[in-house]
Amino acid sequence: MDKNFILEELRKKVLEADLPLKEGATNLVFGKGDANAEIMFVGEAAGRNEDLQGIPFVGAAGKNLDKLLKEVGLTLDDIYITNILKYRPPENRNPLPEEIKAHTPWLIEQIKQIKPKVICSLGNYATKFFLSEGNVDLMDAQPGITSVHGKVKFVEINGVKIKLIPLFHPAAIIYKRDLTPLWEKDMEIVKKEVKESLEQKKLF
Ligand code: URA
Repeated sequence: MDKNFILEELRKKVLEADLPLKEGATNLVFGKGDANAEIMFVGEAAGRNEDLQGIPFVGAAGKNLDKLLKEVGLTLDDIYITNILKYRPPENRNPLPEEIKAHTPWLIEQIKQIKPKVICSLGNYATKFFLSEGNVDLMDAQPGITSVHGKVKFVEINGVKIKLIPLFHPAAIIYKRDLTPLWEKDMEIVKKEVKESLEQKKLF
C-alpha cells in the first residue's frame, strides 16, 4: 500500500487521540513531505505559524530550512518532516517530559511506516530524545547538539533500528549564520549515508 496513504490514515488516528496540548492548539501538526523519502527530519514542536496552518516548518525556521535544503540540492520531495510533539506548546515553551512521553509513540509509528534510511534530529530536543533511545527521563543526560552534529549514531527505540545524524536546528542557524557551512557539511554526510544504505540494499 502507498506510504502516503498509510500516513494519512495514521494522521486521522492521531487527530482522534486524546493528547496533552491538544486542547490549547489550533491544529494538529502531523508532518509534510514525501512518505517515500529516504531521509526523515524530526524537529521539536510547532510554533505559531505551524499551529495556525497545521503544517510543520512553515514559519521563519521553515523558510530557512527550505533555503538550506536548496543549497544542498534537495527539496521537500526528498524528505519527510515532522516533530517530536504533534501540537504546539503554549507560547512555544519547552516540551514537558509527560508531553514527550505521550506524543512520541506516534512519532515512532511514523518512523515504522516511512522506514527512512537516515533520521536527522533537528536541534537539542529531538537529538536528546533519540540518543536516550526514547527513555525521556534520560534525555537531560545526553550530549548536546554542538558535540554530536554530523555524527552517525545507531539507536533503537521499541525495536525500531534507526541511523541517526543530528543536525543544528534551522532556527538556530538564523541567529548564528556561521553554522551554515557546518550544516551543509553535515548534510553531505547524510547524503553519503543514504547512498551507502541504498547500495548495500542492492547487494541482497
Ligand atoms: N521548529 C520546530 O522544531 N518545528 C516546527 O515545526 C517549527 C519550528
